[in-house]
Amino acid sequence: SRTAARAADGEIEIGGVSAGALAARFGTPLYVVDETDARSRARELRDVFAAEAARVGSSAKIYYAGKAFLSIEVARWMAGEGLSIDVCSGGELAVAVAAGVDPARIGLHGNNKSLAEIDRAVSAGVGVIVIDSAIEVERVAEAARRHGRVQSVRVRVNSGVHAHTHDFLATAHEDQKFGVRLDQAEEFAEAIRSHPELHFLGLHCHIGSQIFGSEGFAESAARLLDAHAALLGGGEVPELNLGGGFGIAYTTADDPTPIAELAAAIVDAVAGECARLGIPVPALAFEPGRSIIGTAGATLYEVGTIKDVLVSVPGENGAHADEVRKYVSVDGGMSDNARPALYGADYSVRLANRVSDADPALVRIAGKHCESGDIVVQADYLPSDVQPGDLLAVPATGAYCWSLSSNYNYLGRPAVVAVEGGQARLIVRRETEHDLLARDAAYTGERVGDQ
Ligand code: LLP
Repeated sequence: SRTAARAADGEIEIGGVSAGALAARFGTPLYVVDETDARSRARELRDVFAAEAARVGSSAKIYYAGKAFLSIEVARWMAGEGLSIDVCSGGELAVAVAAGVDPARIGLHGNNKSLAEIDRAVSAGVGVIVIDSAIEVERVAEAARRHGRVQSVRVRVNSGVHAHTHDFLATAHEDQKFGVRLDQAEEFAEAIRSHPELHFLGLHCHIGSQIFGSEGFAESAARLLDAHAALLGGGEVPELNLGGGFGIAYTTADDPTPIAELAAAIVDAVAGECARLGIPVPALAFEPGRSIIGTAGATLYEVGTIKDVLVSVPGENGAHADEVRKYVSVDGGMSDNARPALYGADYSVRLANRVSDADPALVRIAGKHCESGDIVVQADYLPSDVQPGDLLAVPATGAYCWSLSSNYNYLGRPAVVAVEGGQARLIVRRETEHDLLARDAAYTGERVGDQ
């Protein structure tokens, strides 16, 4: 509501540091990550799932999905809270390794891992590689032989359950690139078990992202457990990995199920299905990213220009009324947050540097890129006296903003700052003009075409 939006405006502090102090010291746009918040979300997920699993005589392991946001520092927070790390490329693996994460607590994903990525993962001693196609069984076995190791693997399957944010859909046909058909689980398990250098851990399924309810997870788990039970005839199946995807609130319109409730419902569904099948509850694993780091992050921007645009809004009795919408342009945009342009994602905004008594005004927060879809916040309210030089905070940008960032229009990527207990420290520095030019062969003096 307008009142709620106004109440949130003011001199905002994140992790005990004022927005003004952060902007003055590190510049804008700026990603700010609240370490206490990220760590406590990691602990909450770990503890809640562990307690629920223990209730049904099992255990639960949490992999932090690094794709949401990964830096050496963040990998250390997660490992420090007892989480494992899920990586999906050689680059993410390099960050986790550089962070000193115990390789046994790293899992590697990907539908097209290169031979080099597989080799590096096996030689580093990663705990698990997720098999996504038949050819990977051979590739991982070959790498394991070469390094004289036994590599644990799981198989990513399609449960046929698709979560579309607020609801889910169960279909019989799969037309997407990830995983293998559920009815192929047995042949994959057999192929893996035929290789002495591979150890079969079980099945994996990820049904989607930004999911609010438990129904999709419950349906997917039920389908997976049928296949899981059938595999028990051929040997041990120690684990079941149900993926990530727990949703967060980006605006007041979002109402995700609290994590404790979600975990209880998922574990109840798993236990119920196991009882029906007459099998022991396997050790469970999950891979949340967004629900750990999403709300721990915020982006600070500085307002550059403002213009009033007359828009026609639907009024009473089918009539339309003109309303003024302020286009408030900030010093970043789709290069630091691609989600509105990519997914139509919605965010909210707050005035961050001062308290204002002015009436609320309808605003749209635009970026500075040469593209009309470059919008950070579609519609929200700010005090009508918002002016150039003001600082704005956009909450809940911790997940899939920095990791999806680009240099579009040759903007440098913002710095990332961690805040905790009134202290701020740089964890990734801002890109400079030199960074932007450094790979240009003509700039560095190398001859174009040398490679
Ligand atoms: N596990 C697997 C195999 C995944 O593919 C993903 C996300 C996750 C775990 C973590 O999902 P989370 O808990 O963070 O929802 N760029 C999109 C989201 C893409 C998610 C890709 N996979 C966005 O910004 O909404």
